[in-house]
Amino acid sequence: MEGIEKVSGFLDKTKTYYLATVDGDQPRVRPFGTILLYEGKLYIQTGKVKPVSQQLAANPKAELCAFDGETGTWLRIAGELINDDSRDVKVAMLEKYPELKFMYNPDDDNTQVLFFKDATATFSSFTAAPETVKI
Ligand SMILES: Cc1cc2nc3c(=O)[nH]c(=O)nc-3n(C[C@H](O)[C@H](O)[C@H](O)COP(=O)(O)O)c2cc1C
Repeated sequence: MEGIEKVSGFLDKTKTYYLATVDGDQPRVRPFGTILLYEGKLYIQTGKVKPVSQQLAANPKAELCAFDGETGTWLRIAGELINDDSRDVKVAMLEKYPELKFMYNPDDDNTQVLFFKDATATFSSFTAAPETVKI
């Protein structure tokens, strides 16, 4: 399995991750769940009206963290989240998460997908050496 597939599979399994952004000198963090591996890039989804989106527009640096209690492994991804206005990715994201379709559609000027760029994913546990994947 390629590294990025392992990362996306981990996030599919844990379902919830916590996404941190930068707001001036204040860190902000919130639960997220959307994740899509599309054409070799790792995407998340949000709404342009949300503060998280505005924070990423001002400063794309972000970090997420998820924990798999079954294996005692956690994953952190640190890098930049870059907006992608391609309609096909938005469609694919909403196909993966059809429950979002009551709130979002690809042409609503709010639905936003962003992909990780220049990112490092690190798997950690108390029992094994950290493993890193460049994204
Ligand atoms: C389990 C869970 C998963 C969530 N997944 C997402 C998501 O993928 N994208 C999103 O925009 N909001 C998601 N939310 C809602 C955000 O956490 C919420 O809108 C938050 O307020 C956004 O951060 P902000 O207020 O700093 O913009 C999720 C909430 C929960 C409880």
